[in-house]
Amino acid sequence: MPAANSPTAYGGVAKIFHWATALLILTLIPLGIIAEELPYDTGEALALKAQVFSVHKTLGVLVFFVALARILWALTQPRPGLLHSDKKAEAFLATLVHWLLYLSIVLVPLSGWLHHAATDGFAPIWWPFGQSLPFVPKSETVSHVFGAWHGVLTNVLIGSLILHILGAIKHHVIDKDATLRRMWFGASDAAGTGHHPKSGAVAGIAVYAVALVVATVLGLSGGDAREGGGTQLTAAPSPWTVQEGSIGIAVQQLNSEVSGQFGQWSAVIEFVETPVEGSHGRAEVSIAVDSLTLGSVTSQAIGPDFMQAEAHPVATFTADLVPAEAGAYLAVGELSLAGATVPVEMPFDLTIEGDTAHAVGQVALDRRDFNIGEKYPDEGTVGFGVTVTIDVTATRTPES
Ligand code: HEM
Ligand code: HEM
Repeated sequence: MPAANSPTAYGGVAKIFHWATALLILTLIPLGIIAEELPYDTGEALALKAQVFSVHKTLGVLVFFVALARILWALTQPRPGLLHSDKKAEAFLATLVHWLLYLSIVLVPLSGWLHHAATDGFAPIWWPFGQSLPFVPKSETVSHVFGAWHGVLTNVLIGSLILHILGAIKHHVIDKDATLRRMWFGASDAAGTGHHPKSGAVAGIAVYAVALVVATVLGLSGGDAREGGGTQLTAAPSPWTVQEGSIGIAVQQLNSEVSGQFGQWSAVIEFVETPVEGSHGRAEVSIAVDSLTLGSVTSQAIGPDFMQAEAHPVATFTADLVPAEAGAYLAVGELSLAGATVPVEMPFDLTIEGDTAHAVGQVALDRRDFNIGEKYPDEGTVGFGVTVTIDVTATRTPES
């Protein structure tokens, strides 16, 4: 069996590429579905789900490169003619499906990869080249759009594959012709001379274009960035008014960092430049727990196993603001979160220019102090340490 194609028969390389891709794709589809369906209600279940996803993603990236190599090879080769191009409808359908499959073996893994690169957290690709892609921002909207592409294109792939396999079986069992045999190994005497109808190629590209538009619309409509959950906070009068800022958290999940922010919080800040009895003032911060966005694990993070937004919708940090070494400050107080109240000391730096103050601080917490994630007692799944970062700009509220 020659390695290269002839104008009438597939060569060995094309056959190896075809069956290797077939094996990988037919493994990846059930893996993706199983990974989606697996529960994640305990640490072990989450670890297993993540492992299945990692296998799915790693094999998926492999398919992408195999597909590129396959297509490059096919471009250098003559395309064996169809065996029965006189049956116009069948020739059209076969060519349409081949185009859908060629487009799918590139775009299905690529969309999965882009979705992964735009999302923080969850299962890593097992390779040493990092989890991000250049030019792909970590963004919820981008992640939703590529996630929708992956979902819709996967369905196009599954649909065309069913037609493709049924077609192969029909040729073999009903027509009893050489279509399947000539893609199998060994020489075949069947000489395909019929031409591939161009209309099949055009229809394949058109189906793909429609699928991409539908997926983008679906992704955009489902992917609005979270502004906050249902919890509303009312701002109390404060001597300093927060103008802008962020309260962020970062955790280790499956040994890579996932970071996010609370979309809704308010603060009452009293602060005087010259300390009175060792204190510069006080801060009372209220945070809507369900306004958190944390990569792909937002709903788990605010759910009953972790921060319990439903039972404890508002977290509060009440602290005295006291001087610390080297011109820095300390917020010494208590953080109430998920039903637990724990003493916390957060160092911060402060610059005041005129009536505008800018504070930047960071503190490392341990989730176990708040009984958060008790079902996940293993650091490898969800790390114990949580880094909280604040960056706040406030202005002196004019006295009324
Ligand atoms: C059990 C599964 C499969 C069977 C029985 C099968 C069978 C076949 C056969 C018989 C042909 C040759 C058609 C002809 O001579 O006109 C073929 C071609 C092709 N198959 Fe499959 N296939 C399978 C899975 C797949 C998968 C998973 C993919 C990719 C997603 C795929 C992509 C293609 C493509 C793109 C061609 C056209 C090759 C070309 O002419 O350039 N097949 N397949
Ligand atoms: C040819 C390769 C691939 C195939 C056939 C495939 C197929 C699938 C399937 C069938 C699902 C389940 C969809 C559902 O139930 O809605 C899925 C989900 C998923 N796949 Fe793939 N996949 C491939 C490559 C990849 C790659 C390369 C990545 C990432 C690097 C990836 C990441 C994902 C993710 C994250 C999900 C879950 C989607 C979500 O939760 O929105 N896949 N895939």
